[in-house]
Amino acid sequence: MKTTRLLDLTAAMVLLLYVAFSLPLVSGDPGRRVNMTLVRGAAALGAFCLDGSLPAYHLDKGFGAGSRNWLLQFEGGGWCNDIASCVDRSKTRRGSTRFMTKTVVFTGILSNNASLNPDFYNWNKVRLRYCDGASFAGDAHFRNGTSLLYFRGQRIWNAIILDLLPKGLSQARKALLTGCSAGGLSTFLHCDNFTSYLPKTANVKCMSDAGFFLDAIDVASNRTMRSFYTQLVSLQGIQKNLDPNCTRAFYPEPSLCFFPQYVLRFIKTPIFILNSAYDVFQFHHGLVPPSADRTGRWNHCKLNVTACNPHQLDALQGFRTDMLGALMNFFRNSTRGGMFINSCFDHCQSALQETWLSPTSPRIHNKTIAATVGDWYFGRGSEAKEIDCPYPCDKTCHNLIPASTTDSLASSAPGHNSRGNLFTFCCFCFFIYLFFFAWTMNACNL
Ligand SMILES: *[C@@H]1O[C@H](CO)[C@@H](O)[C@H](O)[C@H]1NC(C)=O
Ligand SMILES: *[C@@H]1O[C@H](CO)[C@@H](O)[C@H](O)[C@H]1NC(C)=O
Ligand SMILES: *[C@@H]1O[C@H](CO)[C@@H](O)[C@H](O)[C@H]1NC(C)=O
Ligand SMILES: *[C@@H]1O[C@H](CO)[C@@H](O)[C@H](O)[C@H]1NC(C)=O
Ligand SMILES: *[C@@H]1O[C@H](CO)[C@@H](O)[C@H](O)[C@H]1NC(C)=O
Ligand SMILES: *[C@@H]1O[C@H](CO)[C@@H](O)[C@H](O)[C@H]1NC(C)=O
Ligand SMILES: *[C@@H]1O[C@H](CO)[C@@H](O)[C@H](O)[C@H]1NC(C)=O
Ligand SMILES: *[C@@H]1O[C@H](CO)[C@@H](O)[C@H](O)[C@H]1NC(C)=O
Ligand SMILES: *[C@@H]1O[C@H](CO)[C@@H](O)[C@H](O)[C@H]1NC(C)=O
Repeated sequence: MKTTRLLDLTAAMVLLLYVAFSLPLVSGDPGRRVNMTLVRGAAALGAFCLDGSLPAYHLDKGFGAGSRNWLLQFEGGGWCNDIASCVDRSKTRRGSTRFMTKTVVFTGILSNNASLNPDFYNWNKVRLRYCDGASFAGDAHFRNGTSLLYFRGQRIWNAIILDLLPKGLSQARKALLTGCSAGGLSTFLHCDNFTSYLPKTANVKCMSDAGFFLDAIDVASNRTMRSFYTQLVSLQGIQKNLDPNCTRAFYPEPSLCFFPQYVLRFIKTPIFILNSAYDVFQFHHGLVPPSADRTGRWNHCKLNVTACNPHQLDALQGFRTDMLGALMNFFRNSTRGGMFINSCFDHCQSALQETWLSPTSPRIHNKTIAATVGDWYFGRGSEAKEIDCPYPCDKTCHNLIPASTTDSLASSAPGHNSRGNLFTFCCFCFFIYLFFFAWTMNACNL
């Protein structure tokens, strides 16, 4: 499964890059360090990380008027869809709490500073650590004579909720379930289940960030993402945890319900979709995966959009058109939903202070992401559905491609760094990027 290994490998590379670029660009507030809590009760539920370690979360307690409101954020970080890549992952922080940093920095939508996060700063905020490799949705295991792997994402989700309920979640007045990337996908998958645990009187909503992974056709006319997800759903036993109304409607291809675009119309809880129409992760893995560009014609374009030729730009515009098409029903018909589909080459915009809310953060109609999400959540104003004009019209984007291939490592990034350090880091990471690039090409026998 070379392609899938590559997808995983490249995900790792993207993550690495993100570490460098996620260093806070907004000086003055480094964000708050929050300790890890291991879920002791998880073992009794058979809820384990890939390697058998206990799952974990980080809780920053709410205060003042926010003390009975809860924001839960799924961490992201790609997927593993075959035994080999899951074995590899189980030996890293992506598959084991044993290798994770024990504190994370809460920034962006997790910030507790009112001027950086005006609507949610005083809420109880929880970051759910990701260690199952299947967006918190699997339920299976693999065992042979020598290896044992747990695919227990769904049980981890359940165990964390059961742990949080007595800590005050069961009395929540307001709640928001969110997540980035693979965690943004989890948000779609668990949104209604989240609602079912909370009081009927609670105001519960969900917000997916960079989780709208499209059932795209790549530039070699293959459905790379679809094959990848089909393998993932099968390996990790996800199908039984997908929305039953959706899997019934999509029979005989129930694994399609892992794609947000197909499950969306079955979700009853109000949901907000935050995504770039040129999401960098999807550009690099869904539209132009290495398997679809064996000659490397896209290499420069992938790194810097200004290097794309007209044909490549057409493909990117086509991707945006497909994404908007997949969202059209939601855009027209969803009365309680919201969206912010901008045109920046980016991936994950709510967890980073710079993109969530800062003087230079991306905007649509002069409105920041923080303001749009906040207005939607609290019902301020009428329309909460923003769609940007196509690239290159948006002047609020930064379009530093690696800068935006964020995943959810934000919290594992070393605390606070200056812009000088950032520059050094960028250079370092660019070389790492080139190195991995060469390595993946080599792995492809090219
Ligand atoms: C909140 O953030 C602002 C802007 O970065 C900063 O000036 C202020 O010192 C921060 N407040 C606290 C309590 O950290
Ligand atoms: C976090 O953990 C450290 C080390 O175990 C401890 O010293 C500190 O008091 C903890 N902080 C909180 C807020 O619990
Ligand atoms: C078990 O699976 C692992 C990972 O695929 C493999 O390396 C190992 O050789 C297998 N062991 C046996 C006894 O088949
Ligand atoms: C939510 O998911 C858990 C398993 O994680 C399941 O036990 C529970 O029945 C689900 N609730 C609903 C309403 O589907
Ligand atoms: C992609 O499609 C081409 C034909 O369009 C096929 O030859 C190739 O094997 C496919 N690659 C993958 C990775 O599926
Ligand atoms: C499936 O759809 C029916 C009819 O719309 C609805 O009553 C039921 O709650 C749905 N089930 C789930 C699990 O969403
Ligand atoms: C909106 O819903 C109506 C009724 O369910 C449906 O006929 C229509 O096609 C939907 N609009 C879009 C853009 O899908
Ligand atoms: C954009 O909003 C800012 C305040 O958020 C305001 O100062 C500025 O004038 C607005 N610009 C435009 C073009 O409306
Ligand atoms: C992208 O390329 C353009 C010109 O080709 C250059 O001006 C710009 O600095 C490059 N951006 C990055 C992030 O390398």
